[in-house]
Amino acid sequence: MSKKTSTIWLCEQCGNEFSTWAGKCPACGEWNSLKELKVESSKSKAGRNSEKIETKKMADVEIGKVERMMTGIGEFDRVMGGGIVPGSITLLGGEPGIGKSTLILDVANRMKRALYLSAEESMSQITMRAKRMGIDGKNITLVSGPEISALDREIEKIDPDLIIIDSIQTVFHNSYDATPGSIVQVRECGIYLQQLAKKSGRSIIIIGHVTKEGNLAGPRILEHLVDTVLYLEGEGFSEARILRDIKNRFGATNEVGIFSMQEKGLTEVKNPSELFLSEKNDSPGSVVTVALEGTRPILIEIQALVAPTHFGYPKRTSSGFDLNRLNLLAAVISKKTHFDLSNHDIYLNIVGGMKVNEPAVDLAVVASIISSYKNKSFGPNSVFVGEVGLLGEVRKVIRQADREKEAKNLGYKIIDGIKDIGELIKQLN
Ligand code: TYD
Ligand code: MG
Repeated sequence: MSKKTSTIWLCEQCGNEFSTWAGKCPACGEWNSLKELKVESSKSKAGRNSEKIETKKMADVEIGKVERMMTGIGEFDRVMGGGIVPGSITLLGGEPGIGKSTLILDVANRMKRALYLSAEESMSQITMRAKRMGIDGKNITLVSGPEISALDREIEKIDPDLIIIDSIQTVFHNSYDATPGSIVQVRECGIYLQQLAKKSGRSIIIIGHVTKEGNLAGPRILEHLVDTVLYLEGEGFSEARILRDIKNRFGATNEVGIFSMQEKGLTEVKNPSELFLSEKNDSPGSVVTVALEGTRPILIEIQALVAPTHFGYPKRTSSGFDLNRLNLLAAVISKKTHFDLSNHDIYLNIVGGMKVNEPAVDLAVVASIISSYKNKSFGPNSVFVGEVGLLGEVRKVIRQADREKEAKNLGYKIIDGIKDIGELIKQLN
């Protein structure tokens, strides 16, 4: 068959394909993001789609029993929906230095045979990390080097049950004349790995870096290709690391696993509430709430500092909580009480580097602001949970009973029966 080449244009930002070039991506609106890609039609069309089509009545399809591979890292297994599914492909994203390689090295160590392709670090660098973590590496075979189709040969030799690619932005497929990390390579390597997982029945974990905006480079393409998308998050200064699943074909999404970065790698945090509470939390400006992280209620401390503005426009900053929501809640407080926040700066912080975006923490945010403004505390061990509306009213939240239970377990009590901000103020000591 003669090989015809045709040209398509791929958007580096959103991954959509177009037949012509445009200065601005028609799909996502990004400027100058379309990159040329030559595709060989005989290879891409005939090669990829030439497998025989099979049809069957749904009732006749045999599912068989899927034996998931449990790593024994409880937090990781739970986020994966109960272990790694054989033949599945998982994408793990996160900022550089957050601990992706550390986590996955630990996972690899718990497999029968793992193949670890690293194009980012040398073999000795990975081994040094393993030594620090107390991993002897007997069951891990390292492959250095960026050429991804070399995997075929190694897989035959090693027969691994887990294959790791660290990271997708540093590998390339030799059929494509583009640099590693470019949208073309990310896409083609992604497709190659997806087919490898399906045809060999081996599980693959791909590590990917996120861009400044928090997207995986070559984002949509990869997210569509894989079965599970995980993100590892955390703030550099804090030891807490949160593993979230954004997409999971084999389990519930929005599940979270909580780890702590220690000298010997990531350790599981069995009781996350303790990680996010500072030791003394009855001073003015500090309030505790129970936020749902995935299916799990976790106690979180919110701190506010309200101070007079010395010059010009009042400042509002927030760490771990949406700034627009903070502005809105500050406006509600100013409108519904006699507290004048228009000449006060507000600094808000969620302790321990946690990020919360649940409306259920509104009441606690409002309480922390009021407490700091009045320089009075709500008393030790009091917890606030509730969504605050634009009229200052407090609404009920989902899974109240679970939240109460978690608070009680740690010796706290949710203050209930608060209907609006006025009633909240009455609780101040
Ligand atoms: P790493 O797994 O290399 O991050 P990523 O692969 O996401 O880029 O982790 C890097 C950071 O983790 C580094 O700053 C050092 C720290 N770290 C520890 O604190 N303890 C450890 O045992 C290890 C292995 C790393
Ligand atoms: Mg790494």
